Amino acid sequence: MEKYLINPNQKISTINKDIYGHFSEHLGRCIHEGLYVGENLDIPNVNGMRKDVVEALKEMGIPVLRWPGGCFADEYHWKDGIGPKANRKKMINTHWGGVVEDNSFGTHEFFELCEQLGCEAYVNGNVGSGTVQEMSEWVEYMTFDGVSPMAELRKANGREKPWKVKYFGVGNENWGCGGNFLPEDYAQEFLRYNTYVRNYGDNRIYRVCCGPNAEDYHWTDKVMWRARHHINGLSLHYYTVPGSWEKKGSSTQFNDDEYYTTVTKAYKIDEIITRHIEIMNKYDPEHRVDLIVDEWGTWFDVEEGTNPGFLYQQNTMRDAMVAGLSLNIFNKHSDRIKMANIAQTVNVLQAVALTDGDEMVLTPTYHIFKMYKQHHGNTLLGSFITSEKIENGGLKMPELIESASVDENGVICSTIVNVSLDKTKEVKCQVADSAVKRVVAEILTGKADAHNTFENKNDVVTSVFTDFELTEDGFIAKIPPCSVVKFSIEK
Ligand code: AHR
Repeated sequence: MEKYLINPNQKISTINKDIYGHFSEHLGRCIHEGLYVGENLDIPNVNGMRKDVVEALKEMGIPVLRWPGGCFADEYHWKDGIGPKANRKKMINTHWGGVVEDNSFGTHEFFELCEQLGCEAYVNGNVGSGTVQEMSEWVEYMTFDGVSPMAELRKANGREKPWKVKYFGVGNENWGCGGNFLPEDYAQEFLRYNTYVRNYGDNRIYRVCCGPNAEDYHWTDKVMWRARHHINGLSLHYYTVPGSWEKKGSSTQFNDDEYYTTVTKAYKIDEIITRHIEIMNKYDPEHRVDLIVDEWGTWFDVEEGTNPGFLYQQNTMRDAMVAGLSLNIFNKHSDRIKMANIAQTVNVLQAVALTDGDEMVLTPTYHIFKMYKQHHGNTLLGSFITSEKIENGGLKMPELIESASVDENGVICSTIVNVSLDKTKEVKCQVADSAVKRVVAEILTGKADAHNTFENKNDVVTSVFTDFELTEDGFIAKIPPCSVVKFSIEK
């Protein structure tokens, strides 16, 4: 039997709800079709935003949305996306499938979407192919409440009051698609662009600086060294790719070995986060700069017959395991990680929703996000679980990955992921110094390749979990293989 200790006396950090954030890029069918259908299509919408998707995302508790990219951000010129739609410039989306982007979804539409979702806005600016003036004017357009050329332009386009921009990214992947900079050079550019990203009125912009790709510790070192005094959050990108970038592997057809390769590669993010934080600490011992994981998730081969540039993939229980374990890891690092954004919201990579015409299907990853909603804004508690280890391709991870948090009423939320494909894990949970009165639990489980389709939308959904017995100070549970279980514990 595995031992699981939760210590309610050890209150570690607040789990910022923005750790449960999402990312939407002008890529494939994420924005167009997935979130935005315009006002003329036969798909139910409110001011062009898909009703079904908006409702599902609200229900899931989407706290923040990143836009317009990704690589697209560094070739996006925001003035092309404002004013009467008929006059908006059409451009080629060179990164993603070479298709025509008609700019019908621009700044006003993005904020309309955020308003409907009730979420914060994270806007990503263009360093790679944009100018300092262009970035500065965008911020003025969005946030200045007074008389200025950009505020007047916004008003002429129908929006009197400025919007609130919580997060602003100064470039994206500037080590690659955002301009192929050396870290020292990007750090200098960040400082220059960031100088003109002004705080207007009450709007305080949280400045996100382009951080490393995965294990690029050199990038973190140089950027922190040069720019740390002006950064609020340093972004990290980490994708779980089971195969090589050329042959990533299928999203639905995989054997046990490929499954374990995927989960162990996903788990590696724990070490990567720890090592980047160590470097950050060298320059920032006061922990003033946060770490932001603004792109993460699985990346498989696209579904057969779909545009290779659209990155459309199915989503199985294996993805749910990656989501569950990653979110537990982010919770555990919530003293330093203040936002994370899974890539991407709809129809792209590890999406929470897939659409086909007026049909929508919610993925196993969606159900994890909805289940973990209870962690939002909670306080992370000290917790520890014993576990056998898995070894795969030189990587090691525990079979059980957990995190525990407490809300203001003292209700503890514990989420446990059992990545084993064949072992039911018996777990004895003890809550230190506490008499436990009531426990309710919920589970997401299924075969590793189980997924929801347009024909069968509810193959993988959560259900009530009852396979546990209450003890004086906790419970003893039997956690099935390939499952994620959430316990709500009342003392
Ligand atoms: O999410 C897809 C792409 O992955 C993004 O555009 C880019 O930032 C990253 O390489």
